[in-house]
Amino acid sequence: MLSVILAIVCIIFAIVYGYFWHRSRFFIRRGIPGPKPTSVFSGNLLELQTDRSPFNKSFMKWENEYGSTFGYLEGGQKVICTSDLSVLHDVFGKKFENFHSRKPIHPFPFNPDKDERANVFTARGLRWKRLRTLTSPSFNPQKLRNMQVTMLDTTRKVMKVFDDLEGQEINVCKLFLESSTDVIERIAFGKEESGVGKTTNPVTLLIRAFFNPAPFIENPLINFYVGTFEFQDWTIYLHKVLVKIVGSPLTKLGEILVKTIEKRRALAVERKSQEAEEMNQLNNNEDVNGNGALKNQYEDFIDLFLNSEASEDDIKSIENNNIRLGGGELSKAKIEKRLSDQEIISMCSVLMLAGVDTTATAMSCFAYCLATNPEAQEKLTEEIDDYILDEEDINMDNVNSMQYLDWCIKESMRVLPLAGGANSRICMNTCTVGNQNLLMEEGMTVVSNFWSIHHDPKYWGDDAEDFVPERWDPELNRIPKDPYAYQPFGLGPRQCMGMKFGLLEIKLMFCHLLKNFRIEATQNTKIHMAGIIVCGPHDVTVTLRRRVNAAEQDC
Ligand code: HEM
Repeated sequence: MLSVILAIVCIIFAIVYGYFWHRSRFFIRRGIPGPKPTSVFSGNLLELQTDRSPFNKSFMKWENEYGSTFGYLEGGQKVICTSDLSVLHDVFGKKFENFHSRKPIHPFPFNPDKDERANVFTARGLRWKRLRTLTSPSFNPQKLRNMQVTMLDTTRKVMKVFDDLEGQEINVCKLFLESSTDVIERIAFGKEESGVGKTTNPVTLLIRAFFNPAPFIENPLINFYVGTFEFQDWTIYLHKVLVKIVGSPLTKLGEILVKTIEKRRALAVERKSQEAEEMNQLNNNEDVNGNGALKNQYEDFIDLFLNSEASEDDIKSIENNNIRLGGGELSKAKIEKRLSDQEIISMCSVLMLAGVDTTATAMSCFAYCLATNPEAQEKLTEEIDDYILDEEDINMDNVNSMQYLDWCIKESMRVLPLAGGANSRICMNTCTVGNQNLLMEEGMTVVSNFWSIHHDPKYWGDDAEDFVPERWDPELNRIPKDPYAYQPFGLGPRQCMGMKFGLLEIKLMFCHLLKNFRIEATQNTKIHMAGIIVCGPHDVTVTLRRRVNAAEQDC
């Protein structure tokens, strides 16, 4: 009897092992070059996260060994990593209908078609199209103009903290994270007052934990999820039970929002009657702070999402995408014109996850670039002085008119691209891509080797490694002809939704900062890019020195 049981166990083990062994040889069978998996279960995960370094470090190493397009395995995910722009043009642009899904940034089991918590970042197909159509108008220029009031207020509070730290060596990363968290908490979570400089914000810790998980390979549960990626329809039940027992950071964010949404619904009724009254007053649209934000139109994302409604044209455009994107569950249902409460919660939560660490990291990288390139900083300061005489002049129109500021930020994001890890797509229908007609099978993933592309002398010249804002001067003709050679905010229809929002926040912050201070490098100024999801520094140590004439200008 015992021998029969033993034999059955051995057979089961052999079948399971055989399955994973066969899976681990996927790219060898396909003749696609790439690193040999070190584990039949987790594939190349171990090498990907060696020394806790970001994925792109391995990508660069593998590109040197295997060429511009190579395959590797993240457990059950078959990933093609490429710097071949002809492949990226097909995947992210021309053949988007076959690649409308993004590789999950966390390997927890999740069903983007059925899970009610899906948001514009995690949804795919028609569901994504509907969420994007409904929420995009909330990022239009007039809405941003209104939101800048909050950004400016938070920025002023940050300046007060910087003032207290003047002349000392400080790590600016911490304060930038506090600042961008404050902005999103106020604009997407309904927090009424700025918390900058008061106490340590627990939400910043939550964000740090989310974006800087321990290497997947060190966590047996995550390792298990990665290894069993294609069995998510089953492992999802295990995950649901675990979340119920242990809880999750996202549940905490959701709880804050449920209460805020209830409050806002009640307020909306009150406000409607007030507005009707105010409409009769002539000055109801007066300009607040002189920054172009209209008095009665200040809203935040919660208000905007509560009020967003698809027009008949929107619905038609979503329906027309049904064939292109494959409707899934949605094709059988009536397309809802408004967002449900759960969708609003998921959308606000994703703004916190997509908009906080990215913006803060971009600011830290930019501060590093300016500290280590004093000539560029000097030139930028001169431009700021030309446009900004006093604090009242710092507004969206002025900061968006500054050309050198724009070049500097673009260049910082080229040299230190921080969120390219999100530039990925999953193949939904088998097809060929790129000049070489590479066969992409359904379920395979394509990730962009963004670091390599951003540093490739073929596109950027021999000084590709250097911070040279002037290369963005159109008259010098140095910008690559192919727009896909630059991708800090992604590519194609799923490009970053918050790009203008994030850039505005950065510009307002640095106009304030450089109007008041000079950012000086110290012997401890260095940059170490880390992180699996957002890749950036956790420590940028500099000294802020008050500018000689800035005290008189007092801004
Ligand atoms: C400097 C700051 C930022 C950087 C570098 C950045 C970068 C990115 C990148 C690379 C993607 C993936 C694009 C793709 O797959 O093609 C993305 C997507 C996204 N980002 Fe950002 N982002 C930033 C700020 C923000 C902000 C402030 C928000 C919102 C307030 C935001 C919201 C989103 C959303 C919702 C998506 C998903 C879009 C979709 O799938 O349709 N991001 N971002």
